[in-house]
Amino acid sequence: MFFHVLTLFPEMIMEGLGTSILGRAMQKGCIEAEAINIRDYTTNKHQKVDDYTYGPGAGMLMQAQPVYDCVQAVLGQIAQRTGSDKKVRVVYVTPQGAVFDQKMAQEFAKEEDLVLLCGHYEGIDERVLEEVVTDYVSIGDYVLTGGELPAMVMVDAIARLVPGVLNNEESAVTDSFGNGLLEHPQYSRPQVWHDKEVPPVLLSGNHKLIEKWQLEESIKRTKERRLDLYEKWRAEHDNSR
Ligand code: ADE
Repeated sequence: MFFHVLTLFPEMIMEGLGTSILGRAMQKGCIEAEAINIRDYTTNKHQKVDDYTYGPGAGMLMQAQPVYDCVQAVLGQIAQRTGSDKKVRVVYVTPQGAVFDQKMAQEFAKEEDLVLLCGHYEGIDERVLEEVVTDYVSIGDYVLTGGELPAMVMVDAIARLVPGVLNNEESAVTDSFGNGLLEHPQYSRPQVWHDKEVPPVLLSGNHKLIEKWQLEESIKRTKERRLDLYEKWRAEHDNSR
């Protein structure tokens, strides 16, 4: 899978994605990522990419021209590389989008290429968004200074679902949300720490019993911490719990 992040701060994206598990995945060739500087596409002789908004309010807005030309250039390169005219999803990361979740991450992980557009200042001129954006996505109901951190959050959540990115120990199968519930508690050595014992069932070697305990703990935790998720899970699964 190839992530194309369009931004005014390409070094922030590449530094963020180049380390740890995603960095290793890029070296292995499981995923590719590039950060494209929108400023490189401005036709303004002073390299300007923003201007004042029309109407009241003092904000600056990213202008249509550099964003449009940048998106078109990237889409053109993708079409050339893949030799296909398949529609590529262009995601604008914005607080005005649908809230990102694990299901969305699973959907996006099916794409071969994904374009993420990062806004800055007060956002981007609506006219270019109407022409190029296929998905509006927010990472939560709060406002950040730009789209770079949200884009990195999304790339991380999507990339770890791409086959080969995680190894067995880091498996995504038992994740929180994988089955609509939060993950059960986990323990490592030592067996006793601060007078607290690892739950004996985990030492029993009885896989059936352990799975039963893990599901019960998942349900309990979800009910305590995320009643909204629990209610949803209960409606879809087992009404007796
Ligand atoms: N840009 C600024 N805040 C954001 C958010 N919460 N989600 C996505 N993009 C953003």
